[in-house]
Amino acid sequence: MNKNYITTPIYYVNGEAHIGHAYTTFIADTLARHSRLLGNETYFLTGTDEHGQKIEESAKKQNKPTQEFADEISATFKNLWDEFDISYDQFIRTTDTSHKIGVQAAFEKMVANGDIYKDFYEGNYCVSCETFFPESQLMDGGCCPDCGRVTTIIKEESYFFRLSKYEKPLMEYYEAHKDFILPKSRRNEVMSFVRSGLHDLSVTRTSFSWGISVPESLNDPKHVMYVWLDALMNYVTALGYGMDEVKMDFWPANVQLVGKDILRFHAIYWPAFLMSLGLPLPKHIGAHGWWTRDGEKMSKSKGNVVDPREVAKHYGAENFRYFMMREVPFGQDGDFSQRALIDRMNSDLSNDLGNLLNRIIGMSEKYSDFAIDSVNVAQYHQKELHDADTILATLEGYFDELQIHRYLEELWKIFTIGNKAIEEHAPWVKVKEGRLNEALATVALVANLLAKASIMLHSVMPKTTATIADALGFEITTASYKALITDKGLLAPFVIKKIPPLFPRVEEPLMQEAPKAMIEEEPKKEVALKTEDKKVSTVPSEGLITIDQFFQTALKIGTVLEAQEVPKSSKLLKLQVDLGEEVPRQIIAGIREYYSAESLIGTQVCVVANLKPAKLMGMLSEGMLLAAKDSEGLSLIRPEKPRFSGSSIG
Ligand code: MSP
Repeated sequence: MNKNYITTPIYYVNGEAHIGHAYTTFIADTLARHSRLLGNETYFLTGTDEHGQKIEESAKKQNKPTQEFADEISATFKNLWDEFDISYDQFIRTTDTSHKIGVQAAFEKMVANGDIYKDFYEGNYCVSCETFFPESQLMDGGCCPDCGRVTTIIKEESYFFRLSKYEKPLMEYYEAHKDFILPKSRRNEVMSFVRSGLHDLSVTRTSFSWGISVPESLNDPKHVMYVWLDALMNYVTALGYGMDEVKMDFWPANVQLVGKDILRFHAIYWPAFLMSLGLPLPKHIGAHGWWTRDGEKMSKSKGNVVDPREVAKHYGAENFRYFMMREVPFGQDGDFSQRALIDRMNSDLSNDLGNLLNRIIGMSEKYSDFAIDSVNVAQYHQKELHDADTILATLEGYFDELQIHRYLEELWKIFTIGNKAIEEHAPWVKVKEGRLNEALATVALVANLLAKASIMLHSVMPKTTATIADALGFEITTASYKALITDKGLLAPFVIKKIPPLFPRVEEPLMQEAPKAMIEEEPKKEVALKTEDKKVSTVPSEGLITIDQFFQTALKIGTVLEAQEVPKSSKLLKLQVDLGEEVPRQIIAGIREYYSAESLIGTQVCVVANLKPAKLMGMLSEGMLLAAKDSEGLSLIRPEKPRFSGSSIG
């Protein structure tokens, strides 16, 4: 039996859970349930990240002792997951004593093997991101390049982790394990980040105290651990690292899910820490995209944060979960709108799945008093059975790549086969012609298709599929998975249960819409500028555009994955450029006179990403590179520091 360890990030306790957190947790739960169904010994970990200055400050604002504040918010996460029936095996909190002991043991080991040393750190620190940034990375007025908030200068004594030492081992690891980072398109951006040089990492703070102190053996009690070192270690302290180690045989994890914003911590720092501790690295780090609402970034101040409870209350928890898993290719950003959710529910769940179930309940009632027997299915429906079993056999591969949306898309073909069989074989005609056996064989075929599909849909919609299975006289278990999926078997004779429709159509949005963004604020700023600023503009007044017009151009950072010379062209190069999308873009660029194809691979460029695709020498070009040209030649415009592929420019 395989051991399979699956983790979510641990969530900060400075705010309540929203659909972004729910998304990661749904994916992890789906993977864990699927793994258990296959009969693997599975351990699923989630929890909360409770230390650091940010939490300390949030508690202060609410006038609460920090621990009490953390207890309250942590409980809201746990309750939410319980309401959603998330099948976690452990909910870890970084304030758990066992976690603290484990982290201290890890720190001690890193000190002992020479990977941690003491020095001074002076730098611009972003409290919100709990990260130091070098001057060169700061935005206007010393603001954080990640969240835009003002950073503060901190000079303090600090312990450092020798991250630089792991630059080469990390690169070697990425090279040798091409599917370590999923989707694979994200691998390049991590590699170019590491290639650009890793600095040693400050891993303790003396500026606040809400954290785990360094081990007593160091006799340096004013140092508490950097929250990311503390937090990342949760994945092994949960298994007993540095304590009883009882569950350490689950390590290395099979999949560690993270949002794309925290990929760097998981794909660079975390593996380096593990290497230092002599532990194997996780098999996969899966980085998913971000959710927006109605096309806008969610934020508390806009009041447009989607509350998962609210969605579940109005649309059903599992329908919501199906929507999130089906709507967005893993790794890409997704947009939540009631319209999209309703469309998905009506078309996939109501029309395809729900109708099929209703139809066979209705037909079996009329033709056989609900009795269903698979005895003649193979005789009349060899082809349909074969097609369905072939599709079902390919599904596992999508799970391995975390492509759950593709998995579901393929799975839905089973319902198409069922609906088509009913149309083509028209059991009602066969009954009239006295060919009852044939009619019942079609009904039984569809019952079997529904049974097989329910098993495969179980990990996404556990309760709904259990209800379907119950109506079809069987239970979804590892044994039925083996019988109906692996061994391609059919259901034993049974009496179908008449159940009310599971997916009534939704006609109107059921939740209140999000408030529209406050657009009035902008003009006020402009007025202020005009009155206060005495400088006379020297910008030519002809051909000016507004900021809105500028933003109609989508400028993005891209990473060049492949580059080739275009035969018979002295000017063109054919590039495959990663823009953080599922598939890289092909861009035909007229830069061959200035750049060799080879020199471009792995480098970053700025791309106009919403240009209408065009054909150049018969080849599709799906974007344009930004470059500056003068009498000296042509120079590509590139980000000063590596940025994630797909990052917006502007
Ligand atoms: N505490 C750290 C993780 C430490 S793991 C050792 C953290 N916490 S978080 O609460 O801010 O975010 C947790 C997860 O939620 C991240 O994976 C993040 O990407 C995800 N999301 C937060 N907002 C999101 C969206 N709007 N959409 C999708 N996921 C997003 O980071």
